[in-house]
Amino acid sequence: MIDALNLTKSYGSIAAVRDVSLTVAPAEIYALLGPNGAGKSTTIHMLTTLLTPDSGTVRINGHDTVQNPDAVRRIIGVTFQDLVLDRDLTGRECLDYAGRLYNLDRSLRRQRISEVLELVELGAAADRLTGTYSGGMKRRLELARCLMMHPLVLFLDEPTQGLDPQHRVQVWQYIKNLRTQNGMTVMLTTHAMDEAETLADTVGIIDNGLMVREGTPDALIGALGSAYIRVTAAFPAGYVPGFGTEAWVTMVDAQPGVLTIGAMHGARQMTTIIEHLTRDGIEIMDMSMTRPSLGDVFLQVTGRTLRDEGARQ
Ligand SMILES: Nc1ncnc2c1ncn2[C@@H]1O[C@H](COP(=O)(O)OP(=O)(O)O)[C@@H](O)[C@H]1O
Ligand SMILES: [Mg+2]
Repeated sequence: MIDALNLTKSYGSIAAVRDVSLTVAPAEIYALLGPNGAGKSTTIHMLTTLLTPDSGTVRINGHDTVQNPDAVRRIIGVTFQDLVLDRDLTGRECLDYAGRLYNLDRSLRRQRISEVLELVELGAAADRLTGTYSGGMKRRLELARCLMMHPLVLFLDEPTQGLDPQHRVQVWQYIKNLRTQNGMTVMLTTHAMDEAETLADTVGIIDNGLMVREGTPDALIGALGSAYIRVTAAFPAGYVPGFGTEAWVTMVDAQPGVLTIGAMHGARQMTTIIEHLTRDGIEIMDMSMTRPSLGDVFLQVTGRTLRDEGARQ
């Protein structure tokens, strides 16, 4: 549905996007993940005909964005990072205005408006001025505006930016529903690890304009190879477990009362660890396992945490 090949874009001396290629299959949710300034919005703008690449090509459902931008615009919906809602219109009026821009006739507009209002649960607030809406309601109205045109592909640039946790989860739910109920293809950008991990089938990590890693959240996390298993017990002083040199062990950290083991295929090794410790006469008081997160992947790939980047802005 989306096919981008070797996209490059500079602003003067700033290389915003460098040789980025990606493909997104129909009904897939793809997340472009990266810190502020990574090149996410620039990429989205090239994919949606708003910006012409310096080099490289984009096809949306087979239509070239430079050769045939009108055909592309007919099948996509785009929400922007900075919301563009008119405060002096009601939600319903905003949607009606959007429908008129796209030449939907009056009865079709009325039908689509009630349909999308229901979808994003804004029916009760439809006749209030958008100036009175909360951040979450505005995001949902933006989504509704896009959905009016029944796009084949939806592009969402930082769809939950500025939302509180409750409303973020709500927007995630809408995005997931769009895919499951309508088979819509969704490409979103985010600098939030949990968002990419929760929503995306495929994650592309972009940093300094370069695609540095791409894969399913599980594959990216799996590539780190390790889970951390923490065992709490009254270990004898200086205790070192005998399995420390085995191939599946990536690290062992022994602190008084707590043993931390880095383990490949962590879940599978839980029983091995229990057997070993029991054989050594150790009575386990507590045991827990943490999987690495996509945040760990980003740190490993780029050497920086996303949170640090966000805080700098
Ligand atoms: N209109 C512009 N003029 C000059 N530089 C820009 C412009 N838009 C973006 N940039 C620069 O390009 C880089 C990528 O920006 P952007 O695509 O907005 O990243 P992101 O959306 O990941 O935060 C940044 O260094 C940014 O400062
Ligand atoms: Mg951006």
